[in-house]
Amino acid sequence: MALPEASLCLDRLLLSGFGANYGKQRSLGLVELRCGLRTLGNGIKRCGFRSVSFCRTDERKNLTKRSCFLRCKCQKADSVSGLTADDGRPTSLSINGKTNVNNVQELNPLYQSDGGGFTDGNTNGVGTVDGRKIEEEAWDLLKESVVYYCGNPIGTIAASDTSGSSILNYDQVFIRDFIPSGVAFLLKGEYDIVRNFILHTLQLQSWEKTMDCHSPGQGLMPASFKVRTVPLDGDDSVTEDVLDPDFGEAAIGRVAPVDSGLWWIILLRAYGKCTGDLSVQERVDVQTGIKMILKLCLADGFDMFPTLLVTDGSCMIDRRMGIHGHPLEIQALFYSALLCAREMLAPEDASADLLRALNNRLVALSFHIREYYWIDMKKLNEIYRYKTEEYSYDAVNKFNIYPDQIPSWLVDFMPARGGYLIGNLQPAHMDFRFFSLGNLWSIVGGLATVDQSHAILDLVEEKWSELVADMPLKICYPALEGQEWRIITGSDPKNTAWSYHNGGSWPTLLWQLTVACMKMNRPEIAEKAVILAERRISRDKWPEYYDTRRARFIGKQSRLFQTWSIAGYLVAKLLLANPSAAKVLITEEDSELVNAFSCMLSANPRRKRGQKGFKQPFII
Ligand code: GLC
Repeated sequence: MALPEASLCLDRLLLSGFGANYGKQRSLGLVELRCGLRTLGNGIKRCGFRSVSFCRTDERKNLTKRSCFLRCKCQKADSVSGLTADDGRPTSLSINGKTNVNNVQELNPLYQSDGGGFTDGNTNGVGTVDGRKIEEEAWDLLKESVVYYCGNPIGTIAASDTSGSSILNYDQVFIRDFIPSGVAFLLKGEYDIVRNFILHTLQLQSWEKTMDCHSPGQGLMPASFKVRTVPLDGDDSVTEDVLDPDFGEAAIGRVAPVDSGLWWIILLRAYGKCTGDLSVQERVDVQTGIKMILKLCLADGFDMFPTLLVTDGSCMIDRRMGIHGHPLEIQALFYSALLCAREMLAPEDASADLLRALNNRLVALSFHIREYYWIDMKKLNEIYRYKTEEYSYDAVNKFNIYPDQIPSWLVDFMPARGGYLIGNLQPAHMDFRFFSLGNLWSIVGGLATVDQSHAILDLVEEKWSELVADMPLKICYPALEGQEWRIITGSDPKNTAWSYHNGGSWPTLLWQLTVACMKMNRPEIAEKAVILAERRISRDKWPEYYDTRRARFIGKQSRLFQTWSIAGYLVAKLLLANPSAAKVLITEEDSELVNAFSCMLSANPRRKRGQKGFKQPFII
């Protein structure tokens, strides 16, 4: 039993070659790597890979873990002061660039070009909100949230809430939570932490991922990880830092983090775009990591649709909320990650099949989402008049949707101007809820057409008091209530109506909203949202989420000093000051894709059925 595991460790270890760019040659390099087997309480052995830093006990004596972090923070303060890339080159992106600030000021007279940010025009005498102070505070908090591994910055803690609520796993570095932190650091020219995060999480990929004797497919990225400082092999005088990942095997509900690998690819591309340093994405181990994620996502299954089939809670909404199947958020991230990966994959024979599969999937996926997930007034009226039980290749109502499914709230909610992508589509089932992240990232990644992207932002404007109200932005709309809440959430007391994932408002979504607005050249929407956030967010201690229909209360079980609320705000501010920086996250359709897509539209795949050479594995 031990041997294959140990050799797997070594394989992985040899492949990773962390600590140096080995090009095509594999080598262990200078960093000492340890591989061992640990026995869990349940008797399962897991293979633990450890990158070791030796610290003498006298250095660490009397330091609690918390104070060790503080010590690390002191080190960090020295290293972050210079805004240069790790190779000493000057950074390419300026922050608060003067020209851009002036643009914003033209757009919004409330914006103070001296760095003061926005004045609050809506406080009815409450006074001016000092945007600059809030921004400074946010940077301080973000830097304090940095987690160190072997003395190097590696990520940010999910929340630094000392108010007494149970810490659960909020003391860990979450992959999805780190993305806005990483983007904020990149835009500020602090590249090391992002590079370290990318390379260390790569080493965790598919590493310890066994639950009750079952191991999911290779390529899975963890949801989160923790840096533990432990005595080295029982020797109390020396300690080592150990990375302890969680692939969902310890998470509440044991949810698989499908979004982690997709976000990792998106951040990797942003790192290359921002720094101009492509050597990270060109490394053999990084290329292998990209391919492993792609293979896992592109693997054949029983599915008939080009969308990714996932279980409930596999993304930001990481508990039961009725989003199993083909949720929009995962599809938007999947599409965006496919485009990013295509840009970064080194052309070589070995990847030809993978690239072919990737290209096919991109076209089929965008057709499927644009066609079947889209609703506006016109489409809603079509669904209202659908015929059902159509058996044929040219059925209009392909998924056999019963018009009675149209919920009464939607009849009022759907504006004459605007539209959106629904939350999920399955046989005889449309989830009509509006999910913010999925819609916004469909704009950013180009899964939605240009017209659809504008229409989504139109809807956000039209439905401002429902989707934004007192704090940007509702995670979804509307909330599940009563019997529906009981059946769909399983009577989850954390997800009661208009709280947490069930219609709660999440300040972190400000950054995705801002990137989408920048792509569509509509910064005024993001500005309005930032003004609103600045009225309360610092005073309320940067909560994780807000409750109630209008987001008036700090969330019932909301953590304070939630890092991605802080980082999300900072990314929004950085992008408003320098809109062109959004390009590191944006992807556009290239002409190849547009051509393939229009061929698909003009051809009726059913007519082509049976034609020799035609292979369309998905329902599009
Ligand atoms: C909550 C959120 C999840 C986030 C985690 C850490 O569980 O639902 O999206 O990653 O907290 O902040």
